[in-house]
Amino acid sequence: MTNPIDFNDENSNTSNNPSFDAVLQARLSRRGVLLGGVGGVGSVMLGAAGLAASGAAAAAQPAATAAGKLAFKAVAKSLADAVIVPTGYTASVLYALGDPLTGSTSAYKNDGTDTDYENRAGDHHDGMEWFGLDKSGKPSQSSVDHGLLAVNHEATTDEKLSSFFLHANGGTSTLPRPAAEVDKETAIHGVSVVEVKKTGKKWAIVPASRLNFRLTALSDNMQITGPARGSALMVTKYSPDGTKTRGTLNNCGTGKTPWGTFLTGEENWAGYFTRSATDDATRADKSVVALKRYGRGQGAASRHGWESAGSDDKYVRWNISQGSGAASDDYRNEMNGQGYIVEIDAYDKAKVARKRSALGRFAHESAAFGKPVAGQPLAVYMGDDSRGEYIYKFVSTKTWVAADANPADRITTGDTYLDAGKLYVAKFNSDGTGSWIELTTGNPLISGYATYAFADQADICVNSRLAADAVGATKMDRPEWCSTNVANGEIYFTLTNNSNRRLEPANSSQAAPDSANPRVYSDIKNGSSTQTGNPNGHVLRLKEGTTGNAATSFAWDVYVFGTESSAAPGTVNLSSLTDDQDFSSPDGLVFSPSTGIMWIQTDDGAYTDVTNCMMLAALPGTVGDGGKKTLSYTKADKTTLSVDTYVGKAPGEDKLKRFLVGPVGSEITGLCETPDGKAMFINIQHPGETTAQANIADPSKYTSQWPGNAGYGAGKRPRSATIVITKNDGGKIGT
Ligand code: FEO
Ligand code: CA
Ligand code: CA
Ligand code: CA
Repeated sequence: MTNPIDFNDENSNTSNNPSFDAVLQARLSRRGVLLGGVGGVGSVMLGAAGLAASGAAAAAQPAATAAGKLAFKAVAKSLADAVIVPTGYTASVLYALGDPLTGSTSAYKNDGTDTDYENRAGDHHDGMEWFGLDKSGKPSQSSVDHGLLAVNHEATTDEKLSSFFLHANGGTSTLPRPAAEVDKETAIHGVSVVEVKKTGKKWAIVPASRLNFRLTALSDNMQITGPARGSALMVTKYSPDGTKTRGTLNNCGTGKTPWGTFLTGEENWAGYFTRSATDDATRADKSVVALKRYGRGQGAASRHGWESAGSDDKYVRWNISQGSGAASDDYRNEMNGQGYIVEIDAYDKAKVARKRSALGRFAHESAAFGKPVAGQPLAVYMGDDSRGEYIYKFVSTKTWVAADANPADRITTGDTYLDAGKLYVAKFNSDGTGSWIELTTGNPLISGYATYAFADQADICVNSRLAADAVGATKMDRPEWCSTNVANGEIYFTLTNNSNRRLEPANSSQAAPDSANPRVYSDIKNGSSTQTGNPNGHVLRLKEGTTGNAATSFAWDVYVFGTESSAAPGTVNLSSLTDDQDFSSPDGLVFSPSTGIMWIQTDDGAYTDVTNCMMLAALPGTVGDGGKKTLSYTKADKTTLSVDTYVGKAPGEDKLKRFLVGPVGSEITGLCETPDGKAMFINIQHPGETTAQANIADPSKYTSQWPGNAGYGAGKRPRSATIVITKNDGGKIGT
């Protein structure tokens, strides 16, 4: 978040309909264990030392929920360059940027001279899912010591154009970019699948496994499925019939289907493309509106300048300016090939990946299924992470068949559930209810939308943001991950923050506080700078109506508001968070099927004067367990703006606790567990992101040297990595 170029803060929603209307309707009137370089009193240094002895097995029941409270001692906030977990737990580095995925790939030197990233772990580990294996390497839902991790590699640490830790001298910060640098950078994006195994008490990757594979930003033959397949919007020089594209890009949140495949969300892909400064006039059609709505106005520069590396098609594709010929002669539509939930069979690299256009195209985070019920449709919940964007739900046409939990062919089973259905967007009302509005040409608000003329359902799926604008969806404070409460089926969403919330919006990219995004305040960082809007974010939850997955109405409240514990209780610290609970900018969110614990992970730039990013454990209640609260704001003209919101019961220290704090400059993201809940895998993304590129030659000036300082691997350049967490007594994590 401290990068000069902050792609998560991209904002293209200048639609006027959403939250201001809602406001009017709202009656305008410590101690820990370190994995890393800094040890404290009462702490234990771990990491290279390996796992402590395991004790008695945990009870079969989810102990945390049975006891109704979290048993571990909370970890204190920390600025150490280390991973800190509670006493009684061990965290070990398992899988870092550059680790080899084949037997013939060389060990990672970590000095900027490494190549062959198509056969190594990618960068910026993000969302992650577990796929169990039996002893013979076949899929197994019960295995607890052997499996595959499917890992998103979202992006790379950059300052100006160059992914500087990947290049010996920091790389080239001006255009054109050298092809050798660009080839490395495209290859570190995408997804990896890696076999992991527990031998004795130690987890390790299997570097030469035949099951390991990579997908990158250049992978061939990514199929477009659903309504957009074959659409004129998808036609490119690479795919004249509009059925496929290359690569998957900026993979952030994840999901796991009930039939055992991996879902990966493409998030800030728009920033990788460039457009000429005169492309609007060349196009002179509605695509100009669509491109602008997705953050690519004419003259937009690309994040890395990959288009500048030569005349090879693999570079040219990143320039989406329209040429003088047909769409099949150029890459004017290339960006329409990114922005999807992509389904991948983690067990079988021979199966072609599918971009599921029916689930909409936006800055995808996770994809969470509502509880599957035989005979009922499936629901997939999703957020669009940009300021003022929306929350979506896909409802399948096909109803759930329990036998599909173990299908003969996983990816073609996905075809039957995820290529046909209804796409909805959420509207939150000021009375604690909300509605799902279907995005369809049958809705007169869409068919008659003056800003953009939708041709068909393919157009709605590819340009979901415009369709959601048309129906007056509620602008949210950057929807990130969502997850389904295994105890009761309620859906939780992180809303990470929004610097564009304003009491009195000055332009259409800003929005006034509304019931579901009710806070506007100032937060002090480093004693001076003032951060305005909703700098700390909140976690919202919703309970579907009686028809469950198919419901078109719901009830909602705010489970918890991010804040520092010392903030004003009446206006900012609305959840009464204490020193052991306070956090900012929730992002990753995952319920453990084994323990019922909800894990909240942060990707923060607001509270980082006090603490590095963190992970908290929560045992939430239910929608409506708190009450209504009215926030009153005094405007410049002395009139009052009152906003009704609904705040969940204050968590209390037994039900919300900080479990982990990460190294300097990192965010905590991605989470999966073995089915017994006794091994947890999470990702440390972009440690040392705050390093200045100019300091590449001087490791003492890197803001982080993790995980090298924890004894993992060569060199001092910081590396994103997967860690595995176990409880020293062999019990379930968090209990
Ligand atoms: Fe990849 Fe919205 O974070
Ligand atoms: Ca602060
Ligand atoms: Ca995220
Ligand atoms: Ca992030």
